Formats: sequence, C-alpha cells, structure tokens
Amino acid sequence: MSGSIYLNEKDEFEEPIRKTKSTFKKLIKWGLLSVAAITLISSALTYHQYINDNSLEFLNESKICPKGDIIRPQSFLKDNSSIEEIIYSKDYRLDSIKKLSGAVKIPTVTNDTVKSPIDSPSDWNEFARFHWFLESQFPLVYSKLKVEKINKYGLLFTWEGSNSDLKPLLLLAHQDVVPVEPVTLKDWKFPPFDGEYDDEFIYGRGSSDCKSLVIGYLQAFEKLLKDDFEPNRTHLIALGFDEEIGGPWGAATISKILEDRYGKDSIFAVLDEGGSSVEIIDDIPIALPSIGEKGSLNSIISLTTPGGHSSIPPDHTNIGIFAKLLNEIESTPFDSNLSANNPVLNYLQCVAKHTNSIPNDVKNSIFKAGYDSLANSKVIEYLSKIRELKYSVRTSQAIDIFNGGIKSNALPEFSEVVINHRVAIESSIDETISKILNNVKNIADEFDLGIYLNDQEIKPKSINGYFNLDYSKGGLNPAKVSPVDNESFNLFRGSIKHILNDYVYPNLNEPIVAGNLNSGNTDTNRYWSLSDNIYRYKFSTLNGLIGAGTHSVNEKVKIDDLISLIAFIYEYVRNVDEFQEY
Ligand SMILES: *[C@@H]1O[C@H](CO)[C@@H](O)[C@H](O)[C@H]1NC(C)=O
Ligand SMILES: *[C@@H]1O[C@H](CO)[C@@H](O)[C@H](O)[C@H]1NC(C)=O
Ligand SMILES: *[C@@H]1O[C@H](CO)[C@@H](O)[C@H](O)[C@H]1NC(C)=O
Ligand SMILES: *[C@@H]1O[C@H](CO)[C@@H](O)[C@H](O)[C@H]1NC(C)=O
Ligand SMILES: *[C@@H]1O[C@H](CO)[C@@H](O)[C@H](O)[C@H]1NC(C)=O
Ligand SMILES: *[C@@H]1O[C@H](CO)[C@@H](O)[C@H](O)[C@H]1NC(C)=O
Ligand SMILES: [Zn+2]
Repeated sequence: MSGSIYLNEKDEFEEPIRKTKSTFKKLIKWGLLSVAAITLISSALTYHQYINDNSLEFLNESKICPKGDIIRPQSFLKDNSSIEEIIYSKDYRLDSIKKLSGAVKIPTVTNDTVKSPIDSPSDWNEFARFHWFLESQFPLVYSKLKVEKINKYGLLFTWEGSNSDLKPLLLLAHQDVVPVEPVTLKDWKFPPFDGEYDDEFIYGRGSSDCKSLVIGYLQAFEKLLKDDFEPNRTHLIALGFDEEIGGPWGAATISKILEDRYGKDSIFAVLDEGGSSVEIIDDIPIALPSIGEKGSLNSIISLTTPGGHSSIPPDHTNIGIFAKLLNEIESTPFDSNLSANNPVLNYLQCVAKHTNSIPNDVKNSIFKAGYDSLANSKVIEYLSKIRELKYSVRTSQAIDIFNGGIKSNALPEFSEVVINHRVAIESSIDETISKILNNVKNIADEFDLGIYLNDQEIKPKSINGYFNLDYSKGGLNPAKVSPVDNESFNLFRGSIKHILNDYVYPNLNEPIVAGNLNSGNTDTNRYWSLSDNIYRYKFSTLNGLIGAGTHSVNEKVKIDDLISLIAFIYEYVRNVDEFQEY
C-alpha cells in the first residue's frame, strides 16, 4: 500500500533554521574521535602524575562499562540459514551490490542554496527517480508495508506490529548526498555517480553517506518479509531528503508526523548514521556508536562605526577594534568540564576496563573521574593536551568568516565576523552566548561602544558606534546522552556483538561496544522528543574520515561492511521484536 501526505505548506516550509552545514562539520562527524582515541591510548603510557592511591576497593568496577551479553535472537538459534545466506551467498552479495550501485548512480545532491520541493520542484527530479528506483528494487517492502511520501520526498515505511502496546523501533537515514567539487573530479578513481565496484569496494558519492544505510535497511526488511517474519512490535524506516543541509523539510516534517501519530517518548529506540569504525586493541574489537552529540551555534557579531577619510584615522579603526575583540575571544577559551555522563568518559572507561592498553594508575583516574574531583581534573588535564580530544570536554570557538572594509581610502564603517561553536555536553547555547557577550562587553567598555543583542539594546550606542550580536538563527543545544544501562541499549549492544563476534571477527576476542561522542550532528536532533534511546551507528569497519572518503574524493563502502550491516539490521529488528516489554 502506498499513499501521500502533503502537509500544510505554511507550517512546513518556514525558513530553515540551521541551513549551513559546512563540509568540515560533516567530516568531523565521522570518526575523528576514534582516531584521536587511538592516539590517546598509545600516549596514555606517558601519563605520570597521579594520585597516590592504587586501591580500587571503593569502586564498584562491575558497574563501569559492563561487557554485556552477546544477544542472538531465538530465530537465529533455531535456524541461522537466513543470516548465513546474507553473509555467505554470492548471489545475495551481488544483489546487494547492484542495489547500492544503482542507488549511487542517481545523483540526489542537495546544496546550501537549494529551494524546497514546493518552491522549486524541478530541483528535486532526481529524488523522484530515486523513489522509482527503490520501488523497483524492493517489491516486497513496497507491496506489503505502508509507504508514505512526506513533504514529497521524505519516505516513511511502516511495518505494523501485532501488539500496539510495544513501542515502535525507528530506523533513520537520508537520501541526499553532498555535491562533488568539480576540481576534484580528476582525483576520483571512478566517476562519482557511476556506482562502480571492484572486488572489495563500491565507489561513489553517497556510497557511504548514506545510501549504504538506506539500502541496508531496505534489504534487511525485504529479507525479513521474504522469511515471513510477523512482527509484534511496529518497525519504522524514515528517510529524510535534506540531512546534508540541516533537515529543514525532511526530518523536521517526518518527526512531527511521528510525534502526532505515536506521541512523545513513544519510540523504543532510534538508530541513525554516525559513530565510527571498529577499533581493535589487544585483539578486542571495540565498536563505537555515538550516544551523544555536541550542540552547535554561530555567533554573528558586527561592529558599526562612523566613517571618514583614511587620511585622518582614529587610533583604532573599526577593523582594529574588531581585532582586539577577536584576540580577547581567543585568549579566553571556554572552560573544560567533564561530567559523569559525557560519552567520552564512557568510552575511556570501556577501554580502560576491557583492554590492557592503559596503565593501572591511569585507569584508576578514569574510573573515578565521574565522582572524584581530583581524578576528574587529572583526566581533563590529560584530554586537554590532545588536540582532537580537547574539545570533547569544552565548547569550541572557531573564527571562520570575517568581512570588513571596502576601500583603501575610506574608514571601514561596518564589519562582521562569524564564529562557529560546538557546544559541550556539559554546557548550553545560553552559556555560550553569555561568554561571548562578556568578551564583547570588555571591548565595548574599552572603546566606549554600545551593545545590541539580537537588535535589543544592552548598552546604549555612543558616538563611537556599537556591536550587534546576532543569534536570531538559533542553534542546537547538546543532545541528551542516551543511557547505556537500560534494556534498549543492552539489545543494541548485544546485536552488534552478535554480528561482530560470530561473523566479522570470529578469530578475535569478544567484542566491546563503547558509547562515544559525535562532535557533529545528524538528523537525530529532530527526533529528540520521541525517545531517550538514540544511537548513531552505521555498522562499518572503515573509519569514515580516513577510510571511506565521506564528503571527499573516492567515497566508498566496503562490500563486506554492507553485508554485515544488512545482517546486523536483520538481527537487531528480530532481537528488539522478541523483547516483549516497553
Ligand atoms: C557491585 O555491583 C554489582 C552489580 O550492581 C553488585 O552485584 C555487587 O554486589 C556490587 N559489589 C559491591 C562490592 O558493592
Ligand atoms: C544548488 O542546487 C540547485 C538545484 O539543483 C542548483 O540550481 C544550483 O546551481 C546549485 N548550486 C551550486 C552552488 O551548485
Ligand atoms: C530504557 O529503555 C526503555 C525502552 O525504550 C525506556 O522505556 C526506559 O525509559 C529507558 N530507561 C532509562 C533509564 O532510560
Ligand atoms: C560542569 O558540568 C556540570 C554538569 O553539566 C554542571 O553541573 C557544573 O556546573 C559544570 N561546572 C562548571 C564549572 O561549569
Ligand atoms: C549456524 O548453524 C549451523 C548449523 O546448525 C552451526 O553449525 C553454526 O555454528 C551456526 N553458526 C553460528 C555463527 O552460530
Ligand atoms: C509475538 O508475541 C507472541 C505472544 O507473546 C509470541 O508467542 C511470539 O513469539 C512473538 N513473536 C515474535 C516474532 O517474537
Ligand atoms: Zn549522512
């Protein structure tokens, strides 16, 4: 069955609030933390200063990062032939490759200037082609499930369960891809929209981000349907179409429909892209899903001053004063703060507890950091020395754009700066604004200038001019951290362990699943009201940034990973369905 819902245009096509999403931001999303983490672990050996207390007796170590069970569904224990077919059948592998390759061939590109599908329908023709393609590839999904088109190009697949008392599982991905920089075309091994593959990889823009997840979900559902699976719980797949530009029309609309339909806090768990590759330490595979995301905010600060001829300048021109402000901002970094629920601490504790890569005294600090202030400051001090991890415990401030002055013989009358912040888990948008406002106040006092905040007067203008701080575009507070001590996480962890242990790394030690921090954002921020259990994890053994070329040249996905991803989704759905609570 299929139907369409077109929402009230006025509500749904407001100006996107968070339209800008730089390539850097998206790159950072992938796995940088895990690369840094390896650095941390190897250099941890040089960590000396330490509290002189080697006893762990007042710690209950069993509560720190429990290993968790490997969870194999009953269906698997009875008959594992479906999973064995997914993993080992050559035909199944080829079918999955062809589907992903076909998906990559349709260039569903979005960019920062694209208009909504209602305002500029012709910009979105590739998405219509993409829908036809999916419908042709997944006949069972399209004939047996409810398929809705939301806001034209959002896709919501509903597999109704028999028991409406059980909360639905929600699987998220997006259909759009980032553009290819024309100057990089010559560096691609294969043209970016040809969907080429060799024995090991499928190449092309979107092959990793995020069409492998789209195809992974649908391929797993197609197989479950073929196997006559009859779920007790409802299972949903929601595919946005504008994640790469902040999700103003896709995820924003889909989430509203789900909230109207099922209510707040109505979803068992939400799975989306993100996380990073599997790290292997001491022959232990460590999977790194993200259980939290930093917030994000731009400070747009302008300074308006009187003009004049540059032959008789003041001692400090508009730009000179701005230079003082920028210096003030950079010389007063945000404070570090490591709370007990920061996912980075969870990650460190998992590595400390389950591997031998960290000396005992350092382990002790990491274990105690959640409640012992001395241990906490030791860990912060250590993290602060590592560039990639420093910002896992503090808000960042990157001065990214400056514009000012127009003519060599005219005094500048107006200049403007954009500072990008990633807001720490422990902080908030308000605290970020307040710190920047303090910096502005200091310089405004020094040069006798007024201050406006979102066009509201904070301090009157003077003849010298005034600063304006513009936060009217809003921002994103840090995500709530998903708990790792409930049954929802247990099933997620257990399903990852099942596939890693039984199929991906059968010769290594039992895998660990360590919830970590995403420093960028995914579509999940639109779905916060639906569940506390939000996991960002595209099953993969390649590091997104270095290995998979995400948002860069030669983006690719490992075929083995695509296959493991399908198997993981198949088993995760089964495991969650067999769990008969919530
Ligand atoms: C530690 O926690 C575990 C699990 O909650 C509990 O079974 C055990 O008794 C605790 N041990 C101590 C020494 O408190
Ligand atoms: C962005 O996408 C639109 C619609 O496809 C296109 O018209 C426009 O040229 C693109 N802009 C850039 C900078 O590529
Ligand atoms: C654990 O997950 C269940 C199922 O989604 C949820 O109802 C419950 O509130 C969660 N518990 C905690 C402590 O987050
Ligand atoms: C650190 O974070 C915690 C938890 O978010 C907060 O309660 C505390 O006030 C913060 N400390 C500082 C110094 O900002
Ligand atoms: C799958 O089932 C076969 C036959 O029962 C068994 O030999 C094999 O060990 C199972 N595979 C796994 C990974 O459990
Ligand atoms: C659905 O629930 C029934 C009754 O509790 C149970 O017998 C059955 O095994 C469940 N189905 C699945 C797929 O778990
Ligand atoms: Zn993505």
